[in-house]
Amino acid sequence: MGTVIAVVNQKGGVGKTTTTANLGAGLSSLGKKVLLIDLDAQANLSAHFGVLTDEDDKSRSIYEVLRYGAKMSDVIKEVTANIDIAPASLLLSAADLELGGVIGRESLLREALQEVVDNYDFILIDCPPSLGLLSLNGLVASNKVLIPVQSEFLALHGVRQLLDTIDRVRSAYNQRLVVGGVLICLHDSRRRLSRSVAETVRDYFSDLVFNTVVRTNVALAEAPARGCSIFDYDNRSTGSEDYASLAQEVIERG
Ligand SMILES: Nc1ncnc2c1ncn2[C@@H]1O[C@H](COP(=O)(O)OP(=O)(O)OP(=O)(O)O)[C@@H](O)[C@H]1O
Ligand SMILES: [Mg+2]
Repeated sequence: MGTVIAVVNQKGGVGKTTTTANLGAGLSSLGKKVLLIDLDAQANLSAHFGVLTDEDDKSRSIYEVLRYGAKMSDVIKEVTANIDIAPASLLLSAADLELGGVIGRESLLREALQEVVDNYDFILIDCPPSLGLLSLNGLVASNKVLIPVQSEFLALHGVRQLLDTIDRVRSAYNQRLVVGGVLICLHDSRRRLSRSVAETVRDYFSDLVFNTVVRTNVALAEAPARGCSIFDYDNRSTGSEDYASLAQEVIERG
């Protein structure tokens, strides 16, 4: 059975989508079969790989899986030989309201994943910047949480609330859920602020912090416009180096 990793932080713009896309690509280049799930109505991950769904097509995104019980296998698209994606649609923005009264609403994704979980080594879930029902579905469906934090002022803002949410999910729905790691993103080692934030994050989370630090690298911001991962966009960039190292670390951590 594949390892399911939710990439979560309710803080916006910290590197969740960039990490989901490029960790996925890094794992695939190490021979792993990867499924990426876009749980964010912004659909940035889907856009990153050039897979955007038509709002009117009722059978093509993760929205139809959650809302109408469409089969996961019917919405999954192939990105490369080793990477598949379940795309998002803008309709997901209404999911919190629409699914609010549904019984078992927290477990819809977990249920849907049963069908395909054995087909992959890793399933990475890109969550939206909130702790609403979509992120909750991501957490309930996962074995591990990967928390990207931005190397900026207020990096740990909201982290207590996130850890409390993870604890609640563990006790109410999903005992196997663990924090798989905290990833420092958008790091600029020349800036004193970046260095001091990284230190604070390591003091707070100690061993949970990945040794890999993702440096700020413009190629990481450019790759999505080309519809490809950092490895296909610029294999010699620091972004490539960092996400290759993260993929290795994720595999070593088991
Ligand atoms: N290491 C990096 N170097 C340079 N730019 C980066 C890096 N990581 C992310 N970015 C850029 O920063 C912006 C935010 O990153 P990203 O979309 O991955 O964050 P997010 O946490 O998914 O945001 P949201 O909360 O809106 O979903 C994007 O424009 C992305 O291209
Ligand atoms: Mg995102």
